[in-house]
Amino acid sequence: MVVKINKVSTSKQNCIIIMKKFLFILMLALVQVSHLAAQAHVMSKTYVAPSDPQVQKKLASWQDLKFGLFMHWGTYSQWGIVESWSICPEDEGWTQRKGPYSADYNAYLKAYENLQTTFNPTKFNPDKWVTAAKQAGMKYVVFTTKHHDGFCMFDTKQTDYKITSTKTPFSTNPRSNVAKEIFNAFRSRDFMIGAYFSKPDWHSENYWWPYFPPKDRNVNYDPAKYPERWKKFKDYTYNQIQELMTDYGRVDILWLDGGWVRPQKSESKPDEMLPSDKYNQDIDMPKIAAMGRAKQPGLIVVDRTVTGEYENYTTPEQEVPNKPLDHPWETCMTMGNSWSYVPNDHYKSVNQIVQLLVKIVSRGGSLLMNVGPGPDGDWDPVVYDRLAGISKWIQVNGEGIYGSTSIAPYSADNIYYTKAKHSNTIYAFQLSATDNVTLNPSVKILLDSVSRIKKVTLLGSKQHLKWKMNDGQLIVAIPASLQNISTLQHTATFKIEY
Ligand code: GLC
Repeated sequence: MVVKINKVSTSKQNCIIIMKKFLFILMLALVQVSHLAAQAHVMSKTYVAPSDPQVQKKLASWQDLKFGLFMHWGTYSQWGIVESWSICPEDEGWTQRKGPYSADYNAYLKAYENLQTTFNPTKFNPDKWVTAAKQAGMKYVVFTTKHHDGFCMFDTKQTDYKITSTKTPFSTNPRSNVAKEIFNAFRSRDFMIGAYFSKPDWHSENYWWPYFPPKDRNVNYDPAKYPERWKKFKDYTYNQIQELMTDYGRVDILWLDGGWVRPQKSESKPDEMLPSDKYNQDIDMPKIAAMGRAKQPGLIVVDRTVTGEYENYTTPEQEVPNKPLDHPWETCMTMGNSWSYVPNDHYKSVNQIVQLLVKIVSRGGSLLMNVGPGPDGDWDPVVYDRLAGISKWIQVNGEGIYGSTSIAPYSADNIYYTKAKHSNTIYAFQLSATDNVTLNPSVKILLDSVSRIKKVTLLGSKQHLKWKMNDGQLIVAIPASLQNISTLQHTATFKIEY
């Protein structure tokens, strides 16, 4: 009996132990899963679509524009050097200091900041720029109102380190508030307006506190330890952006650079941290975006590389994604080799720029092409030459670019596809490595998604082309008279209506 009781109780105990073990394992598994889920959420590179209908609407119309002008301009153009980065005490290729002051960091910084007192770009004429940009088919502009060095190219009330300060010779020029002049000139020619603004500010005593030497691109004190100082910096940033959103007419895009200024990632561990994660550099984006959108309804906010609801489109830099992305995006790329003005920079050819534009648009993106104005206030003559070349091309081929979407197969061999959003039309751009295009007597176009084709033409010619379908391939016959016409430059673009 006792034995029996014992037996029963032992097996009961065993059962309880097994149950406990099971529960423990289950709990562990749940913790693991939720940890992974939390990590997946935080780590996720997933695009967050804006929920505000006005932002959605503006973003959709921006996506139709496809081709924009970027400009990096500041006092650094006088030395013909990289924008801002030479005062950043990091040992990188693009931060190298050159010239007479380069041996001593502090002497260099002083001379760099002193560039304010000689900046006098008297040839500044944004009407000339917008005429050239518009002819080339650009439809929006993004201008550096303030880069990382903190020098303001607008009439801010928050600092004297600005183009309109009496310290700057150009301040006496009636067009000295260059950001305003640029925005007005481009807006009056129907451009969308983008304000580039650097969140980090290497001139502000509340970002690089003079008490400590700066060590890298980041804030040089711990904002958690000195919250009042950081609050001053946040207010400074907010106030400057508020000025831009209030006194500069309609602004469509707030393009925020310096992605390391962001809330610390919650999963960051001290020993695995990037320098940018060392401190919590939370600038309060919800407050900035709410203010921006109260002033500028539908404002597109591009808080670059800070994945989440304030990165309304993503911004691959100097590269073209090799496939379409599932969200709005823009490649920013230099026309020369540098973002800033560098004398005798090496500019891309018209053919290269056209190829980039076609590739980007066929993958659903936009091209924001950068030009750096010189210290005299004008562009290198080569830039006007390139824009004139693009202008010729866009007049013939632009209808396949604007308001288009991507369509499979996106590209095959050297043919890139786009589809008109609102009509049954596909464009097939055959890229040519030479400026003048020579076509073969027959061209094969992959078109398995389309049946009942009505008409095939070549942009730049009105002639209907003969075609036949063969196994999902459209074979187009090119008459000898069209194989080498002068309107075919850089691409031969087939228009397929169905
Ligand atoms: C790079 C440069 C920066 C520039 C930006 C433009 O990040 O370092 O100076 O403003 O590209 O996209």
